[in-house]
Amino acid sequence: MTAPATPSRYSHVTGWGLALPEKIVTNDDLSKTLDTSDAWITERTGIKERRIGGTTKDLAVEAGSKALQVAGLSPSDIDLLLLATTTPDKTIPATSCAVQEALGLACPALDFNAACSGFVYGLALAHGQILAGANRVLLVGAETLSRFVDWQDRTTAVLFGDGAGAVVLEASDQPGGLRSWSLAADGSLEHLLLCDLPGTIVMKGREVFRKAVAAMMAASQEALERAGITIDDINLLIPHQANTRIISTAAQRMGAPPEKVVEVLSWTGNTSSASIPTALVDAIEQGRVKPGDLLLLVGFGAGMTSAGAVLEWGS
Ligand code: COA
Repeated sequence: MTAPATPSRYSHVTGWGLALPEKIVTNDDLSKTLDTSDAWITERTGIKERRIGGTTKDLAVEAGSKALQVAGLSPSDIDLLLLATTTPDKTIPATSCAVQEALGLACPALDFNAACSGFVYGLALAHGQILAGANRVLLVGAETLSRFVDWQDRTTAVLFGDGAGAVVLEASDQPGGLRSWSLAADGSLEHLLLCDLPGTIVMKGREVFRKAVAAMMAASQEALERAGITIDDINLLIPHQANTRIISTAAQRMGAPPEKVVEVLSWTGNTSSASIPTALVDAIEQGRVKPGDLLLLVGFGAGMTSAGAVLEWGS
């Protein structure tokens, strides 16, 4: 599904926030209980450490609260809360309802699961609601994947981490903000990456790798075309943080130079729905995002889903 932003009402990011658990688990820590090594994990994935702990609700609340603060908004200003997560705290009710209550919001709230593409899906969903009349949407990606990892399985345990990232999207008549998006899903690829209930994450790593590179390139290309720009116009590429080799292979094939690519993977691991907003917030906090910059956000994940979006940064 692709669509350009309607040129009468725009969705700008005006607030952002990050939450990561305090507990750091290094590759050396994992090597004590698994047949693995820092050298293998670093070379094959780019991951050095990951943060573990907390609840999806608490991480989402912390990131969401920071985003409200940066936007200078009070809880009553928010018209909708969207929580992208594959790891809700409970099956019923939605974790977003607990987040809504904890943040003091008075708006509708829902969870949705598009796996690691969830945050980019959420940008498009938020924009749709802004076109339909909402003025401010709080979009959070939050995960506690450590609860669904088999800590005896070296092929998956080394990859994932916990965390949350959030943005406020505000309606504006000023051009910019979300310029375009491209969303896709292919349910025939479910067997590549899944977690039954009850159960833990199982994955065909090599096949995911191949599909991921192709999906990222297709989603990026479509989002760029929809925005009427090329990869050369992009100031920063903010990809889903799953594996540094996936990121560099896709970036190289797309023609994005390494200095334009944002990576936080080495200290976060793969945090699924939280990964792209974490990378976005880190880039903002590092001073890498300037007014007028064009950002290409691109993700892929279980489903398989994939999604790309072009975001024009406001002032
Ligand atoms: N430590 C040491 N050895 C490991 C290991 C680990 N943590 N995990 C796997 N191995 C071993 C395998 O058992 C295999 O051993 P063998 O040759 O004796 O059978 C060998 O390393 C190679 O395994 P392979 O799966 O081919 O490695 P790889 O280079 O493809 O790397 C991944 C594995 C998982 C890192 C990589 O495929 C990947 O990142 N895939 C994408 C996963 C992903 O992004 N998932 C999330 C999507 S949102």
